[in-house]
Amino acid sequence: MAKESTFSAIDVGTSKICTLIASFQEGSLKILGAGITPSEGIRKGLVVNIDQAREAIKRSVHLAQRTSGRSVNAAYISVTGRHISSVNNRGVVAIPKSDRMVSSRDLKRVLQSARSITIPNERRLLHVIPRSYTLDGQTGVRNPVGMCGFRLDVETHIITAAATSIHNLVKCIRGVGVEVENLVLEPLASAEAVIRPEEKEAGVLLVDIGGGTTDIAIFKEGSIWHTSVLPVGGYQITRDISIGLGIPWEMAEGIKKRYGSLLVKSSNSDQQAEPTPLAPGNSYAGLSQDLGDIIRARVDEIFKLVMLEMPDSKYETIVPAGMVLTGGTANLPGIDALAQEVLNLPVRIGAPQGMVGLADDLHDPAYASSVGLLLWAAHQQSDEPALPYQPRLGRRGLARRWFSRLKSWLGR
Ligand SMILES: Nc1ncnc2c1ncn2[C@@H]1O[C@H](COP(=O)(O)OP(=O)(O)OP(=O)(O)O)[C@@H](O)[C@H]1O
Ligand SMILES: [Mg+2]
Repeated sequence: MAKESTFSAIDVGTSKICTLIASFQEGSLKILGAGITPSEGIRKGLVVNIDQAREAIKRSVHLAQRTSGRSVNAAYISVTGRHISSVNNRGVVAIPKSDRMVSSRDLKRVLQSARSITIPNERRLLHVIPRSYTLDGQTGVRNPVGMCGFRLDVETHIITAAATSIHNLVKCIRGVGVEVENLVLEPLASAEAVIRPEEKEAGVLLVDIGGGTTDIAIFKEGSIWHTSVLPVGGYQITRDISIGLGIPWEMAEGIKKRYGSLLVKSSNSDQQAEPTPLAPGNSYAGLSQDLGDIIRARVDEIFKLVMLEMPDSKYETIVPAGMVLTGGTANLPGIDALAQEVLNLPVRIGAPQGMVGLADDLHDPAYASSVGLLLWAAHQQSDEPALPYQPRLGRRGLARRWFSRLKSWLGR
């Protein structure tokens, strides 16, 4: 019988922490445990209060452990925030004379050569993702292993993050007794869950609008092409409602989720909008219209910022498959039409699909990155690992990591 692989993921969001424990059986993802709890101590994707963040992560991990009856020893962790930056870089190596056949060692060497860019001390390397290979001038080679040639080039997408932000996040995770298996940039994780292979091939724009960040990724010819993160999301929409309508933040959040909409109501429609309840004494008059206007102004601004992040003014030609919108804010009715209007692209809403087990709540755009982390984990097991998380460990750290791996192995 095939060995069951179990993976854990912790999606550390600005609004929620989502810990998932899952296994892969016959190619499908079975959710064994889920711990979804409100986030604390995180703003715009960054840890701003280490104690609060650690406690929030602990609650989520404990809940996932309770529901699954398994322990989380090591996990894939999401990373986001404005501190992320990315660059495309090339690497080149000569293939040894013996038989001129490209081996997996040559692949590692060429990736190593692409990694040799100067990274300042205050930055950490997060991903070095091979985009495509060129063998003796033949471009567009997907996997050169086993092919013959003299010179191998690779195009890579390199993602770095601020060392301090990573350090604080890792400290919170370790503070809960969990080792970091891999750090994964949030839009890359989300893409695993909601982008179809044919869209990746043609060219597609992924936009994940969460609570505190809007994550952007462009895929082209089957591979990553551009990534960036904007420090704005659903939190700012709620804050605008709270200020605009003069109501507390929690109430504004509830009203946004329940009544918020970007659907244009025709003036001669006989359907009356459901009145939005306010605190006693406040009036309903014109509220639905005001709410719609407030939300529209902020969401419109977010899409204009997304447009400014495009690496080319002719971005429509780069992403003929259009835009896939995900993240919790993608639940706003009518958001796809507004995105289409601003960016002039076909738009669809992406939500994770096809999971079994304890997956009822997860078929929602808010869980694209959480489920995507598990799918990323599965690919890492089958493919060449891109860049496993390698903390600078001392002796105690190494011993702890070894012990945690042993525990996880024994627990299987
Ligand atoms: N039905 C809804 N209508 C409008 N907004 C919604 C709805 N459901 C969720 N949201 C918003 O989605 C946001 C949370 O999304 P998500 O869970 O993707 O964020 P996160 O992963 O915690 O944050 P981030 O990735 O930005 O750090 C919140 O601002 C929430 O108000
Ligand atoms: Mg998120």
